[in-house]
Formats: sequence, C-alpha cells, structure tokens
Amino acid sequence: MCGIVGYIGHRKAYPIVLNGLKRLEYRGYDSAGIAIYDGKELKFSKTKGKVVDLEKKLEAEISTEGTIAIGHTRWATHGVPNDINSHPHFSNSGDLVIIHNGIIENYEPLKQELKNRGYSFQSDTDTEVLVNLIEDVKKKEKVKLGKAVQIALNQTIGAYAIAVFDRKKPNEIVVARLGSPLAIGVGENEYFIASDASPFLEYTKNAIYLEDGEMAVVRTHKDMKVRKIHDDSLVDPYVQELQMNLEQIEKGGYDHFMLKEIYEQPDAIRDTFRGRMLADQGIIKMAGIDDHIDKFINAKRILIVACGTSWHAGLVAEYVFEELARVPVEVEYASEFRYRNPVIDKEDVLIAISQSGETADTMAAIKLAKESGAFVFGVCNVVGSSISRETHAGAYTHAGPEIGVASTKAFTTQITVLTLIALQLAKKKGKISTSDFYTYLRELDSIPEKVAEALTSNEHIEKIAAIYKDAKNCLYLGRGFNFPVALEGALKLKEISYIHAEGYPAAEMKHGPIALIDEQMPVVVIATKKGHYEKVVSNIQEIKSRSGKIIGIVTKGDVDVKNLADHVIEVPETIELMTPLLTTIPLQLLSYHIAVMLDKNVDQPRNLAKSVTVE
Ligand code: G6P
Repeated sequence: MCGIVGYIGHRKAYPIVLNGLKRLEYRGYDSAGIAIYDGKELKFSKTKGKVVDLEKKLEAEISTEGTIAIGHTRWATHGVPNDINSHPHFSNSGDLVIIHNGIIENYEPLKQELKNRGYSFQSDTDTEVLVNLIEDVKKKEKVKLGKAVQIALNQTIGAYAIAVFDRKKPNEIVVARLGSPLAIGVGENEYFIASDASPFLEYTKNAIYLEDGEMAVVRTHKDMKVRKIHDDSLVDPYVQELQMNLEQIEKGGYDHFMLKEIYEQPDAIRDTFRGRMLADQGIIKMAGIDDHIDKFINAKRILIVACGTSWHAGLVAEYVFEELARVPVEVEYASEFRYRNPVIDKEDVLIAISQSGETADTMAAIKLAKESGAFVFGVCNVVGSSISRETHAGAYTHAGPEIGVASTKAFTTQITVLTLIALQLAKKKGKISTSDFYTYLRELDSIPEKVAEALTSNEHIEKIAAIYKDAKNCLYLGRGFNFPVALEGALKLKEISYIHAEGYPAAEMKHGPIALIDEQMPVVVIATKKGHYEKVVSNIQEIKSRSGKIIGIVTKGDVDVKNLADHVIEVPETIELMTPLLTTIPLQLLSYHIAVMLDKNVDQPRNLAKSVTVE
C-alpha cells in the first residue's frame, strides 16, 4: 500500500506534494514524509502519524522552497510506524533519496551483501536497502541514476512503485513500477508523479499509467522516455485523458467521505447502468460482455475472486447468477484461491471484482487463471487500474472515486453491474422469459429512487445507533440474497467502530452463535418480504425468547417483524434478488453513526488501507 507523490517543474513543489499526500492518505496513514531540493540543499522531514502531523512538523523544521520534491504516506510492512522507518529514505552518502510503495522480498540477502560492502542502515525497511543498492550500482558501474535504478531493480524480487532522485543532479526523477500503481501527470515542462491521478487533477488532465515492469526518467525541459526495466527496450507510452474532476474527490459539505459516498449511491447506481440498459426497450448493451458472450455462454462455471467488501459483492452475485443464468458459480477469497492450487478449466470464466483494481491477491488470482487458459473478466471502479488492464475484458462500475476506507458505493455498484451481466447472460442462454427480462430491467431502473427512499431513514437510524453504540458485540443475520449483506453489515461495523461483529446465515445461528445471545446482544436481522421471510421470522422468535435486542431491516409496511423486534428500519419493496441494493443502506448508516458517536476516525480507520497492494 502506501501513497507516493512527486513533482518536478517550475512551480513550488511543496504544496503540490503535500496536498497530493492528503488525497492519497486512503492508501495508508501511519506515517508520512517529504524531501525537497530547495535549490541548494536537500531538505526533508518525516514523522509517525498523518499528513497533517507532517505538515505541522515540516513547516516548523525546514524551508518549503524548491521545485522538485517527493513525498510518501505509509502503511507499514517492514518495520513499525515510527519517524525512522518513515519515507523518504536516503542512501549512505546522502545523495540519493527514494520513496517506495511495495515490498522488496529479497531485501535480507541484499542488505547482508551491502553490509559486507560497508553500508549501514538506520531503519528496518526494505526501502533503505533498495536506495543503497542503487547507490552501490551507480558507483560500481559508473552509470547515471536511471541506469543504476534499472540494474538494481533487476536484482530485486517483489513489488514496487518508486520515485528516486539525486541531490547532485536535481533536474530529474527516476520512476519505476512493478505490482504497485504509478501515474505520471504530463504538464508543460513539468511532471507529476503519484500512486493515482488525484494529486494532479487541477494541473493536468494528461496522464500516463506506467505498466508493470516499466520505468521512466522524468526531466524538466525534456520529453520523457519510458523503458522496459528488464531489457531496456523503449515503450511508446499511452497518454490518457483523465475524466475525473476535482469536485468528485472533495467532501462536498459532508462531514466524512463515507457519508458522502453513502448518499451518492442513487446517482452512482444510475451511472453504473446509464448507457448500458434501456429498460423500456428491454435492452442491455455491454461491450465487455457482448463481445465475449460465447465465453460466458459456454462457461462450465463462473469463478469469482475478490477480497473484503468486493468478496461480499461476489457472494451476492453467486446467488444472482445461479438464479437467473443457471450457471454454477464459486466465490473465492483471492488470497486463498491463489495459493491452494485450484483446479481451473479452460472453459471457466473468472470474474475478478475490485474497487481499486490494485489488490495484490486479486491480481495474483487473475494471473493464475490466465495461465490456466481461463477467460478473465474484471469488475473494477478505478479506470485504468492494474486489474482493469490485466483482464481480457471487463466492465467498470462508474461509481466515481471512493475515498472512505470503508467501502459503500463500490459495493452497491458492483452488485448492479454483476446483476446486469447475469441478466444479459440469462437472456442469451434463453433462461429467462422476455416478460421477466423486462420486469427485471424496469425494477433495476427504479432502484436508484428506492435507494434514495431508504436513505430517508437516516435520522431514525441515528437514534438506534445512539442506543447501541456501547455494545461490545453485534450479530448480523440474513438468508439467501441477504446473507452476504449480513456479512457486509458486520464488516462495516468492525471496520470503523472497532465493535466486534459477526455476520451469519440466519438459520445457522442455532448451530453456535445463539449461545452468545443475551439481553446485551444487539442482533440485526434482515427480514425483507418474500424469499425466506417466514423462516427469518421464526429465527427472530428464537432470538426474542433469549432476550436478544432485535433490529429488523424490513420491507415497508411490514407488520410481523415490527411486532417482535425492538426496532425496525424499513426499505422499499423490490424483487427479491435486488433487495441487497436496499438492505445494505441502513447497515452502512448504522455503522457510520455508531463510529461517529464513538469518535472514531470514520474515513481512516486504524490499521486499514483502501488499496491493499501487498499480500
Ligand atoms: C481493503 C479495503 C476494503 C476493500 C478490500 C478489497 O481491505 O479496506 O474496503 O473491500 O481492500 O479492495 P478492492 O479494491 O480490491 O475492492
């Protein structure tokens, strides 16, 4: 994980790098640092803590002049978060300075070798080993910095996005990537370097996303050349025009990004099907699917791999695909799948779901499936992300930037896109009647309005949150399509409020979790009409007879659960397989309000990061 930012050009570099780090804090926020060449000397400051802590420290310590700077916000892998382990790191001579996102796996033997050659190390990081390796190569081989970086990287095993410069030659920054993202913003005689494009949106809309195994030397007043790290061959970089705007990555009057993103869901879901679904004409058009429809029709099974919330979206999709398209689906944690020697058939279709499009385990699962000859389809939110480029085809969710670490709109838009795919496949396979197809499309078309209606329960949910904010444990139950929603509701509460929560299939409760129920235990039960409603009502009876506190998520107008539960939160009625798009909303709001009341950092929960680019 970690976020990296750099600037070289004619503007003052410090504010660009500092603001860039603030925008990249979602990638990690346990320590931060900046190095600036002020025209005479290389200045730096780094600290444990967030970017605001760095800002205070740095402005008190050093001058912020200079037109070349690099900065880093960290999510610790090697070495605890402290000032010394924070980036940037320096070579022993003090000439070279580096920032790094990733892991150098063979850093131990490299470190030993460098120690034998007289190098010493201040920090516990793999990054300090890399910068000294570069210095060693530069001296030994008498080569320029770019070449030294290339030779050194060819000796490493692992993942990196790096930016490095030499205080003795402060007119160039060398960047390289393998397994961690790196975007270069191209301005007029200036370059911006960052883990994603958000740090330079107000300066340029032209971005180059380095591919894995590529490096570049960015210099002022010179065109940039991109090369392959392993064989030095030149690459013609593709300059992409960015569609994102600044407004999308700001809070827009909300207290937290998470709340803003919860409220964006009606629009985000609409954006997901806009141009893809003509509900009145009964048409779905999705190039990523239509161009490869044979692969989907002939698939013996669909494998879904993902992590975290995206994995929960995959579980919902399993129910939806099997229901509509009658194709067997298996959903796997990418981290398990990649290491358990899975049986993958050439006729399998693997769908990888990832908001960021950068999750290392999901990426590894994709590579494995490709090696086995399977067709790999990506469902990503971040346009141009590594996973979106590694897959054979895909569909973006178009949810817009999601900054809150706890995922919200990514989840509902992933379900939306996957439902569209399942519907299209069902139609092409002849598994659905024309009239049912129309019914589903019209219903999906009405979901944004229904999500907006579900959001009107916000104040009611806030009151319920006030009652349960001090709970130590919480149970979430659901069945069928809403079992994954129960998992997701529990995850949201854990992530941002640090209250232990468990999601369970409602009927499984009696095989274990029922032992936990007493008058202290809030149990959130998703009990929407249709499906297994009566069965869930029986499960609620079982909780009530053990004095558990019941919060029911029910269909508007429900009576039965209302009579049993301590509280109910209503959502509008919809077709059963679309209920997750509505039942998720109150669970997101409940965890949000509890976390706010407990004074937790909602957007940047402890120990987490939005984009997990390490195994
Ligand atoms: C991290 C985030 C989660 C996210 C998961 C998968 O753990 O904190 O919110 O669901 O990674 O991320 P992806 O970008 O692949 O969906």
